[in-house]
Amino acid sequence: MLEKIQLDNFVSHSSTMLEFDRGVTIFIGSNGSGKSSIIDAITFALYGEHTRRKNKNLVRRDSEGCLVELTFKINSNRYQATRRLDVKGSLDSAKLEQITDTGLIPLAHGERKQMGESVSTEISNIIGLDYNRFQLAVVVQQGEIDAILKQKPSEFKEFINTLVGIDRLDRAYYNMKDVVDSFKSLLRKSIGYDYNDITILEQKIDQERKNEEQSTRELEQLNSEMQKFEDEEKNKKEKLEKLEPLSRKEKELDETNVLLARYIENKIADSRTRFKQELASSEKQQSDLTRDIKMMQQRYIDVKNNLEQVSFIPNIRSEREILDKQLSSLEQEQQDYEGKIERLEQLHDYTKTSEPEAKCPVCGSVIGKIIVKFDSEHIEVELKKIQEMKNNTKSQKEELDRQKENLITKDAIAKQAKEYLNSHGIEGNDHLANLTREIEEKNAESSKLPTRIEYIQNQLANIPAHIDKNSNLDDFVNDEYSKELNQKILDLKNELKGFKREEFKDLKSQCDELVRKRMSLSERKGESAKTNREAKSEIESLTKILDEIKKANFFADLLDKIRKEIYNRDGSVAMRLRLQTLKTISDKASNYIEMFGLDILRVELTEKARDVLITCYRHNGTTDMESLSGGEKVAIALALRLGMAYVMGRDKLDFIILDEPTTHLDEERRRSLVKIITEAFQSGLGPLSQMILITHDPAIFDNANVDSMYEFEMTNEGTHLTKF
Ligand SMILES: Nc1ncnc2c1ncn2[C@@H]1O[C@H](COP(=O)(O)OP(=O)(O)OP(=O)(O)O)[C@@H](O)[C@H]1O
Ligand SMILES: [Mg+2]
Repeated sequence: MLEKIQLDNFVSHSSTMLEFDRGVTIFIGSNGSGKSSIIDAITFALYGEHTRRKNKNLVRRDSEGCLVELTFKINSNRYQATRRLDVKGSLDSAKLEQITDTGLIPLAHGERKQMGESVSTEISNIIGLDYNRFQLAVVVQQGEIDAILKQKPSEFKEFINTLVGIDRLDRAYYNMKDVVDSFKSLLRKSIGYDYNDITILEQKIDQERKNEEQSTRELEQLNSEMQKFEDEEKNKKEKLEKLEPLSRKEKELDETNVLLARYIENKIADSRTRFKQELASSEKQQSDLTRDIKMMQQRYIDVKNNLEQVSFIPNIRSEREILDKQLSSLEQEQQDYEGKIERLEQLHDYTKTSEPEAKCPVCGSVIGKIIVKFDSEHIEVELKKIQEMKNNTKSQKEELDRQKENLITKDAIAKQAKEYLNSHGIEGNDHLANLTREIEEKNAESSKLPTRIEYIQNQLANIPAHIDKNSNLDDFVNDEYSKELNQKILDLKNELKGFKREEFKDLKSQCDELVRKRMSLSERKGESAKTNREAKSEIESLTKILDEIKKANFFADLLDKIRKEIYNRDGSVAMRLRLQTLKTISDKASNYIEMFGLDILRVELTEKARDVLITCYRHNGTTDMESLSGGEKVAIALALRLGMAYVMGRDKLDFIILDEPTTHLDEERRRSLVKIITEAFQSGLGPLSQMILITHDPAIFDNANVDSMYEFEMTNEGTHLTKF
């Protein structure tokens, strides 16, 4: 519904403020008084469109620019659309605001469609009609009243679709596709499959069923095999149990044999050690004896020698005395000779000295002259003779000195021998006799040892190096313990008569083999059971998924069906809506046409494929549109417009503007039209809240029931409005 409009310097209006009332409003005024300009102002404010070719034509001459401000109401929301043009007619500003109790909320600004911002687009969305449809449905411009009849049937169908709200169904139709698609993708995301996978899932389940069956069969077969093995194993184990005590005894026999062998071995080792020790001690004894005998023999010699040396002592003494005497006489003799020689030599010297100053040999005084008294040769002979004798004495003495030296040595030796004997407490020859006897005794002792050693060596040679299985131990079984062991061995052998070790071993290994086989079977059984379990759980979960998908599929199909049936513009819902709308428009239009009192009974809109056709009925049947008179066309067009206005009134737009609708109508029809309109659209009665009628013919409103009336007048200051 329109509330008010403000026009500043717009066409012929310098400043006009016009408030729209409910019910029927009439604009009256002579030609060129500025009535149609109001419609241009409305469409310009809303869509930026008008009938005056270019924007510049909207700007009032001699003004600096224009402004239009329209306030309107849709579904109880109030809006304000404002546009401003500059002197050249360029858009200065365009804006849409919502009017609230607290103020204006900007909704759109400017006309930059590429930038996604456009006041007219926003308004189209709010109203639900673009400019062209707005023109058809709401504003019937001057001379355009029969435009509706000139439309192509397919365009007319689109127009009807808009009236019905098919656009919104279209949007729902496309949105629903997104809904279905996202439902599918959600399904895949949450369970990993979607409808396309139904066959795959069924194949998988089939495969798992086969796996399950096969593993069940395997399990049965394995179970029966297992039973066989268990029976056989039980049988063999019973036999084995009977033989087991004998096997234990056999083991005991083996152990006892080993025990005896080891005991004997130890025993032998002991005696070997003993003999070895004995041999070593005998050998040591022998070497000790030999050493002792040697020592004693040496001692015997020593003692004997020392005794002999001591026996020389008396002779040595007497011999020394004699020697000492002889030596002292030889010394005397020697001194004598030396005196003689000295004297003779002096004499001899005199004989040689003839010098007067010779000194006296006796007193040393100078002798005037020496007279030679002796024959020098004779002295020399004599001197020589004495010299020889002296030498002779000297050599005798030397000989005696040597002898004395020998005696001293001998004496020292004898003294040492005496000391030796004294220190050993040996006296006389008894000792020697004792030693002789002792040596003899030791010799006797020593002579027995080789026989002993030989005996021990023989014994050692006879002891075996080690004992093995083949050794005959009987010879060694000679003490209580070994005899006891031997007896045990004999008893066990006796008990084990008839027991065959190989048979027992065989049985045992057969049993082991059976156990092994049973284990491997049980392993295979485990594997089969696992496969079986897994197949079952896979079947369960896949079946669950499949069920879910089938269910989801059902819903998706349903959604698809809803989309195709309900939201599709050619679906049954849209069809019915259109059908219903066309019927209502037809009914209403027919009512109005009837009131005109023309020879037209009914006007009907019908849908045919992509078209909506208009058919008129006269008394004598349908009539061709082309054959209608100008007045009849205006009447039918008006009737249809009013019918459509009725339908629309139930939706968003709640007004209609008719600019000079009565052209082409005769006086009578004009009056009846005005009557129809004013009665039908009186405030509170009509299908729409507002009806604005523009005319330059005030006479037709005589006696008409109108709610308000504006008179337009052209003055020097532009259009002037007066409200009645
Ligand atoms: N730019 C302009 N500046 C001032 N006046 C203008 C301008 N353009 C047109 N006009 C005048 O404004 C008037 C336009 O009036 P309008 O078309 O609204 O008249 P009307 O009342 O609808 O007339 P009719 O009954 O003939 O349809 C005319 O008188 C025209 O000469
Ligand atoms: Mg006009």
